[in-house]
Order: sequence, then structure tokens, then C-alpha cells
Amino acid sequence: MDPIFQVLQADHLRLRRQLNSLIDQAVEEFSPGFREFAQALKAQTRAEEREIFPLLMGIPAVVGLLNELADQHHQLEQGLELLDSREVDWPEGLHWMDQVLLFKQKLDFHFAEEECVVDLALDLAPGLLHRDRCVLIAESYRLHLQELSSHHRAS
Ligand SMILES: [Fe+2]
Repeated sequence: MDPIFQVLQADHLRLRRQLNSLIDQAVEEFSPGFREFAQALKAQTRAEEREIFPLLMGIPAVVGLLNELADQHHQLEQGLELLDSREVDWPEGLHWMDQVLLFKQKLDFHFAEEECVVDLALDLAPGLLHRDRCVLIAESYRLHLQELSSHHRAS
């Protein structure tokens, strides 16, 4: 399996598990556990945009899809802010946990679409994405994510 796809899939799984465990605990507010999850998700999306998206932008067939994924990142960040804002009864009049479940649906959709796009891009451009280069990109993504995560922990 391609190292870029592998590292993304593993991180998506880690974040999905983190959110599922918060949902299982039926927390009714933006607890420290949610804050931690929000920071982990933001760090992950930024590492993707910084290390992986620029490489794939070299493949014309996926540029539109990548822009869509970047828009979804923005919407997910707004969703996290909404969950943290206590204005969650508006506009749908849902309870907080219902809003969290809606957020989870959007996140699952995003992860699934992103994995498809990355898989497609890697299939379309094996010449551009030589395996050695993919190993390097996956490694810099990992390092960038580590750096962002330790920065969040320190602040
Ligand atoms: Fe993403």
C-alpha cells in the first residue's frame, strides 16, 4: 500500500476512534477530551494541507476534488467552533450530542472522500508520485503533525 495512503488512513482511524469514545461517554459539553480531539483534528487537517495536498495539486484531474476537501476542512473547523460555542440549539434545535452526531457524519464523509481522492491521485500519476517520493512526503507529514501536536500540548 502507498505510504501516503497508509499514514492518512491510520490517522483517520485514530481520530474516528477518539471521537467515538467521546460519544460513548455521552459527554454533554465541550469537555477537555473534546478540546483535545478538536486540536488533534485541526493539526491533522493542517498537516494534510501543508504536506500532502500541494503534491497532489500537480495532478489536474484531482485539483477540483482537493479544493472541495479543503472547503470541508474549513466547514469541519466551523463545526468544532459551533460545538464549543454553546449556541448549539440554533438553528436545528438539537441537543448537543445530536449536533456531535451530525458532526461525526460530516467527518466520516470527509475521511471517506479524502481517502478515495488520494487513492485516485496515486493511481493516476504513478510517474509523478514515485514511491521514494511518497515515503518522503509521508514522513514529512508525520513530522509536521508531531510538531503541530506538541505545539498544541504546550499552549
Ligand atoms: Fe482531511
